[in-house]
Amino acid sequence: MQRTVLLAAALAVVTVAGSALAAPINYKTPDEVAAFKPGPNLEVVQGNCAACHSSDYIATQPPMKDKKGFWQAEVTKMIKVYGAPIDDADVGKIVDYLAATY
Ligand code: HEC
Repeated sequence: MQRTVLLAAALAVVTVAGSALAAPINYKTPDEVAAFKPGPNLEVVQGNCAACHSSDYIATQPPMKDKKGFWQAEVTKMIKVYGAPIDDADVGKIVDYLAATY
């Protein structure tokens, strides 16, 4: 008898906890904080380099001597290794923007 009462109490607790968990939870994700710096051809870069990762990947590269060569290699790697669908005609614009801005 004692057992049945305890079990009923335990079930009641579980039921209450369960319905509290099922209540809808609304939350807002934070706004994107990383942004590409302004510069010529910014829109081309936003259109081609923001699909897979944030601009943090670009902003956090260590200082480099040959900026143009570095960014040319990076953009080529994104296309060849990671399969970024970037138009040949946009590659030069993207490299120029990155070398001038970062
Ligand atoms: C198809 C998806 C995709 C697109 C589009 C893309 N990237 Fe990436 N990128 C990646 C992946 C995957 C990595 C490696 C992630 C990791 O190692 O955590 C990466 C890493 C990077 C890094 C970090 C250094 C490195 O070589 O790993 C830089 C810088 C970078 N991307 C720049 C760019 C630029 C500039 C563009 C636009 C021309 C671009 N990405 C577009 C997928 C992409």
